[in-house]
Amino acid sequence: MESMMVDSDSHELDSEETAEVISLLPPYEGKTVVELGAGIGRFTSELAQRAAQVIAVDFVEDVIRKNESINGHHKNVKFQCADVTFSELDIHEDSVDFIFSNLLLMYLSDEEVKLLAERMIKWLKVGGYIFFRESCFQHYENSDKKNDVSYHREPRFYSKVFKELCFVKDDSENVFELSLLGCKPTGVFGNKKSQNQICWIWQKVRSDNDRGFQLFLDTVQYKSSGILKYERVFGHGFISPGGLETTKEFVAKLDLKPRQRVLDVGCGIGGADFYMAENFSVEVVGIDLSVNMISLALERAIGLACSVEFEVADCTKKTYPDHTFDVIYSRDTILHIQDKPSLFRSFYKWLKPGGKLFITDYCRNAGTSSPEFAEYIKQRGYDLHDVKAYGQMIEDAGFGEVVSEDRTNQFIQVLQQELEAVEEQKDRFILDFSEEGYNDIVCGWKAKLNRSLSGEQRWGLFFAKKIN
Ligand SMILES: C[S@@+](CC[C@H](N)C(=O)[O-])C[C@H]1O[C@@H](n2cnc3c(N)ncnc32)[C@H](O)[C@@H]1O
Repeated sequence: MESMMVDSDSHELDSEETAEVISLLPPYEGKTVVELGAGIGRFTSELAQRAAQVIAVDFVEDVIRKNESINGHHKNVKFQCADVTFSELDIHEDSVDFIFSNLLLMYLSDEEVKLLAERMIKWLKVGGYIFFRESCFQHYENSDKKNDVSYHREPRFYSKVFKELCFVKDDSENVFELSLLGCKPTGVFGNKKSQNQICWIWQKVRSDNDRGFQLFLDTVQYKSSGILKYERVFGHGFISPGGLETTKEFVAKLDLKPRQRVLDVGCGIGGADFYMAENFSVEVVGIDLSVNMISLALERAIGLACSVEFEVADCTKKTYPDHTFDVIYSRDTILHIQDKPSLFRSFYKWLKPGGKLFITDYCRNAGTSSPEFAEYIKQRGYDLHDVKAYGQMIEDAGFGEVVSEDRTNQFIQVLQQELEAVEEQKDRFILDFSEEGYNDIVCGWKAKLNRSLSGEQRWGLFFAKKIN
């Protein structure tokens, strides 16, 4: 640990790179800034020039004193020698506008990162920001420092910790959380660095989320390991029937034009969004309630040149200004939504005149369900309708030219292909996941096939327009 502060300064941060990091920071003019792991102060002087006050913290005495000797002439800087992982830090709750750290968390254990994240949100005022930049993915080779312990984690670790653990309540029982404003690689200027230095920007906001359903998604149906298992079946980037193949077929119906704005509701890990943005130069916003899904999507967006944005958001609570999107696209997500009419009315408002709505979703036959199917629907918490009634809800929300197609035959074909592919790679699948995981998939797919072949379970495709 001793070498960590010196080390964070010895990463070659040329002035171009420092300028890039500074350019990414949220506004901090006239604000109270805490700089964690300040080192000898490469950023301290930059921050001091615009902030009202900077508290520069480092746990190596010599290092923080050196920082003081370099930056002590900035009278708005307080230098504190303290370990950020212990509670000895003299920072009050709700007192800080902006917390900055650069290459610090990578030197902390998972537990320490979690504890620090929980404390950071407490220090922040509502509306305040956190910025941190970490080295991810590849190990930083430094043969001189054999005893260095550093964790070059996958970015999803940080996204998940700060999204999932950072909740605080005030005295009036209001809940606050961190909203992820951005997650992107730095060091791309001049094209000379690999894209493993990732920065995050968060803002402390009031939470209107009771988190019950989100926790269900993240801990039951869409655990990280479960997502990767499903992805193996559906294809890279996808958690819905047919993966890229059906995506290509359906996106072709949208007649996308460069710079059009597309909202993907329940975007999962973003496969369709990357496909649309890369191939049609559209600007895609993907929202999903599952932190696990968005963490993976963000990770995969790193380094891509196309325009994709991801956000953890509940589509039933999210709002957008009227006439924001040219297309709203949603694949096999709305089955989770109980109040579909109200969601469709929101979609109608968010679309521009002439905008298009495209949905595929699980449906059911019109009669009563068998006890097994009823149990499956109940256990998953789904809300399923017959294709005709589903299309009618879309029409009732104001949409015109509504096309409702029963695509169950295509669904059956896709299920058969997916099942065969999994069975063919049984050994590899078990090696990568587990025997239990393999059996779950095979049983689940066989059950879906039986329900679909009996006509009970259906797959619906819906296309509609907001007529001018
Ligand atoms: C079957 S997955 C489909 C993912 C993606 N559309 C795809 O095709 O790969 C359904 C997704 O809906 C998301 N979801 C469920 N309820 C949601 C809500 N209220 N708001 C946003 N997303 C939601 C889930 O987290 C999950 O990622």
